[in-house]
Parts: sequence; structure tokens; C-alpha cells
Amino acid sequence: MTREAASAVEAAQTGVGPMALVALEQRFAPRERIVTDDLAAALLPPTARAALARMGPRAASVMAAFAERRYPGLWGGMLCRKRFIDEKLREALGAIEALVNLGAGFDTRAYRMLPGTGVRAWEVDQTSNIDAKWRRLSQRLGTLPPQIRLVAADLGRDALDATLAAHGYVPQLRTFFIWEGVTQYLDEAGVRKTLAFLATAAPGSRLAFTYVRRDFLEGAPMAGHAVYYHRFVEKRGIWRYGIDPAELPGLLASYGWRVIEAPEPQEMEQRYIAPTGRTLTCMPIERSVYAERI
Ligand SMILES: C[S@@+](CC[C@H](N)C(=O)[O-])C[C@H]1O[C@@H](n2cnc3c(N)ncnc32)[C@H](O)[C@@H]1O
Repeated sequence: MTREAASAVEAAQTGVGPMALVALEQRFAPRERIVTDDLAAALLPPTARAALARMGPRAASVMAAFAERRYPGLWGGMLCRKRFIDEKLREALGAIEALVNLGAGFDTRAYRMLPGTGVRAWEVDQTSNIDAKWRRLSQRLGTLPPQIRLVAADLGRDALDATLAAHGYVPQLRTFFIWEGVTQYLDEAGVRKTLAFLATAAPGSRLAFTYVRRDFLEGAPMAGHAVYYHRFVEKRGIWRYGIDPAELPGLLASYGWRVIEAPEPQEMEQRYIAPTGRTLTCMPIERSVYAERI
């Protein structure tokens, strides 16, 4: 297997992680949850689902505390980004006609939040994740909702416009794009290729996305985060692309997008973690952004 192909397989495997955290989060009492999602567990691989079924609130709390010690801010950061995007999508529902989730992994928003809204959805990911998602959703839901299409594509290589068009998407639809936890797995050409596709979006479309800070990927020391650098950059080499927060507005503007909101990690903690009374933090190396096509 080439290094490129091995990286793609590793990147595909990361699709499960965020939903495993969301599924575990459902073991907490409703007032302590950062995200509520009763479909998450059904999207996990069978072995993870079986392990989860044996876990109660105490086990989930021990795991969250362990994760916070080993990977500071990972649990809180992933859940804050999920909650941020959930809220932005919910707020936008009356104003959009389509949802396109790029690198959707096993995310459940299309199935939780779109029924009854008339909004159509396209979920894009690598073939292995699309196939697994189709199997798990079919098991849980029987048939897939007809307004949601699962689309196998490689964001770095495939022509996204043609691939989505083949599945019925038209760029004239005012669309909410999600690109969550994905940009760091692409190289610069892949990110720019995706941004060039996003430049064709209808005015008023929205984009909720995340990125990893470039200075972190270049090795800038950040307190407590050497473990991420070792795991994702040095050892596995799967985090490849980062953005300087100061350059982000200019980068998006060059593709026709205006930043509406780009909360700092501390702000995410205040908004979403503080009300739960939990002691989690939100990792400073990944940022969430909400933007509008002008
Ligand atoms: C960390 S997961 C995030 C999944 C989901 N967006 C979430 O936050 O729950 C990264 C996802 O990006 C997808 N991905 C990475 N590189 C990709 C590529 N070149 N083309 C399509 N999908 C890709 C992976 O397959 C994986 O599902």
C-alpha cells in the first residue's frame, strides 16, 4: 500500500471517534450533556456498540476524566464543535434548502434534524465509511430517508461538483455546508480544491467548519498538547494541513465567504461546558468557524 493510500485508510478510521464520544456522552444525565444524540450509538461498529451497551454513567465519567488527562481538551473540544454546528444548523433551518456534509463520517445531524423540514441532504465521505454508514443506518432505520443521499468521494481527488451533480445536487440550492474535523486530513491542494467547489455555492449559503492551527502543526509548543503532536503529526502523520487564525478571514474571502463567527476555545467552554458543571476543557489547537457565502 502506498503512503497516500495508507493515510486515506487512517483518515477514514477517524470517522468513528467523534461519534463514539457523542454516544458515550448520552450516558451522562441530560443536564450534564454537551450534545444530545440518540442515534449516535447505532452508527458505531458492532464491537464498540456492544462495549457501550455494558457501560453506565460511572464508566462514561471515568473515561471522560481519563481522556481529559491523556488528551487535554479532546473530549470537550469535539463535543463543543458538535454542539456549535448543531446550533448553527438548527438556527439556519428556515433559510436553507440543502445540507451538504463534507467528510461526514458517522455524523447523525441529517437524520436527527432534517425530517419534516423539506431540506435535502448529501453526505460525502470515503467509500469505506459510506458503505459502513449505509449498513448501520439501514439496520437501525430500515430504509434510508429518500431526501438524504450518501455519496462516496475523495475530497482531494474527485470533482465534487460533478460527483454531487450525479447524485442530484444543484449549486443553485441555498446550502448549509458542514466540513467538520476534516481539513487537517487533506493537503493544501485538497483544501483549496474543496474551497473552489464551495466558491460555486449560492449566495446566502452557510459553512460550518473546523481547522487545526498551522503553528501547532509546525511544532509550536503549546502547553499540554505535545501528546497530540506526537500522535497525529509525528507518529501517524495524518494531520497535514493547518490554518493561521489571522489568515482565515482572508482565505475564506478569496473564495467568496465571510466569517460570521469564529469563537475562541475559552468561549466554547463558557457557552457549552460551563452550564453542565463539568471540568472539561476545549482544546486550543482546533477552531470552529461559521461563515456565509456573499
Ligand atoms: C475526524 S473524522 C470527522 C467525521 C465527522 N465530520 C465528524 O466530525 O463527526 C474525519 C472524516 O473525514 C473523512 N475524510 C478524510 N479525508 C477525506 C477525503 N480525502 N475525502 C473524503 N473524506 C475524507 C474521513 O473519512 C472521516 O470520516
